[in-house]
Amino acid sequence: MKVLVIGGGGREHAIVHTLKKSPKVDHIWCAPGNGGIAQEAECVDIKATDIDGVVAFAKAHQPDLVMVAPDDPLALGMVDALEEAGIRAFGPRKNAAIIEGSKSFAKELMKKYNIPTAAYAVFEDSAQAIDYIRAQGAPIVVKADGLALGKGVTVAMTEEEAIAAVKDAIDGHAFGGAGARVVIEEYLTGPEVSVLAFVDGKHLKTMPSAQDHKRAYDHDEGPNTGGMGAFSPSRYYTENVAQTCMETIFKPTVAAMAQEGRPFKGVLYFGLMLTPKGPRVIEYNARFGDPETQAVLSRLETDLYDIFNAVIDEKLDQIEIKWADNAACCVCMASGGYPKAYEKGKEITGLDYVTDSFVFHAGTAVKDGKFVTSGGRVLGVTATAKTLDEAIRKAYADVHKIHFDKAHFRTDIGVK
Ligand code: AMP
Ligand code: GLY
Repeated sequence: MKVLVIGGGGREHAIVHTLKKSPKVDHIWCAPGNGGIAQEAECVDIKATDIDGVVAFAKAHQPDLVMVAPDDPLALGMVDALEEAGIRAFGPRKNAAIIEGSKSFAKELMKKYNIPTAAYAVFEDSAQAIDYIRAQGAPIVVKADGLALGKGVTVAMTEEEAIAAVKDAIDGHAFGGAGARVVIEEYLTGPEVSVLAFVDGKHLKTMPSAQDHKRAYDHDEGPNTGGMGAFSPSRYYTENVAQTCMETIFKPTVAAMAQEGRPFKGVLYFGLMLTPKGPRVIEYNARFGDPETQAVLSRLETDLYDIFNAVIDEKLDQIEIKWADNAACCVCMASGGYPKAYEKGKEITGLDYVTDSFVFHAGTAVKDGKFVTSGGRVLGVTATAKTLDEAIRKAYADVHKIHFDKAHFRTDIGVK
C-alpha cells in the first residue's frame, strides 16, 4: 500500500517511522517532509497548506491513504478536498477541525454539553473585555480565538497584564484575524496531562497519557514554545482519573460532535488540567500533538496503518490497539533563540553515535550530504525503557552526543 503523509516536523517523522513498520505499507511520500524523513520516505516539495497541490499529487499518484497531520490544512479543509476527489484521507473534516480552530466554538460546545472546563466569556470589543477583567480580577487567562501557533494564550497574574494582552490581540492585531475575538477564562491550577485518542466519529480509543513542556527554559520559565519535550505516561493520570475523564469528557465530546452534525474522525487531543475539583478541558486539538506523538507512538505495538483504516471505515470498535508496558521520553533540541529569531543552516554532528534513542527530525535539511538545521525545533531525541527514569537517562545520554552551533534544550524533561 502507498501512503502520503502531510507535514514536515518531528510529529510527521514519528508517523512516517511508525507507518514504515507496517508490513502492508510499501511506499510513503511525505509533503514537504524534512531531512530526517527523507531517510525513510520520498519527500515531495509541496507545502502542507497547499490543498490544490496535495490533491493534484494524490490524483496523479493514487496513494491508498493520505494522512493529514498538521492543524492548518485540517482547518482549511484538506480532508474534505481529498474526499471530494475520491481519495481516502485520515483526519477530521473542516467542520470538525473547528474544535481546535476556534476556541469559542470549543467553549460553547463544552458549555452546551456540560463538559467540564474553565468558566469563560467571549469578547470582540476590548472595552467590554477590560470591564470583565476588572470585575473578575487576576489571575485570569486571555486567549486569542483562532490558531496562533500555540502562542495566543496569556496566563495573566495581574489585571494589567491581562488588559495588555486584550489590547494586543484586539486592537494591536498581534495575531491577525486569530485575535480579533478573545476568550477570557477562569484561572485553573493542577497538573496538565495530554490524552490523545483515535476517534472514528462514534467510537474512541485513547492512547497512553503524555505530558509536554511548553516553556522554553528549565523549571517552566521563559516564553511558550510549540513544545520542548514530552514523556509518556503521566504520573498523575491514574486508572481512576482515566475513568473519570472517559465518562465526563472523552465520550461526551465525541457524542457532542456527532450530535452537532460534525462527526469527528481522526486524532482528538484532549489537553487536560487535573484541578482539585476534577479534570477540566484546557484545550482540544484536532490532530496528533508535537512532541507528544514522538513519545506516545514509540510505545505503539499495533500496526498504525490498520488503525488509520479502522478510523476511516468507522470500525474502531473492532480493532484491538496494544501499547508497550513501558515509558518514553522525547527531548527536543532547538535552535538557539527559539521561539524568537534563530539562525538556520548549522551543521548537525554526532547523530551516528546515538545508541539508545531514536532521533526524530523536526527542522532539518540535507545539504552536501550532511544534516543541517532548518527550523526552530530541530530534533526530538526519543528513548523508551521499562521505567520513565531510565527512558529520561537514555534520551539525555544521546542528546549529549549531538552537536550544532547554539543548540538549546531543556535539561528537565520528564522531571516534573
Ligand atoms: P493552550 O494554548 O490553550 O494549551 O494554553 C497554553 C497553556 O496556558 C496551557 O498549557 C496552560 O498551561 C495554560 N492555560 C491555558 N488555560 C488555562 C487556564 N484556564 N488556567 C490556567 N492555565 C491555563
Ligand atoms: N504539544 C502541543 C501541541 O501539539 O499542540
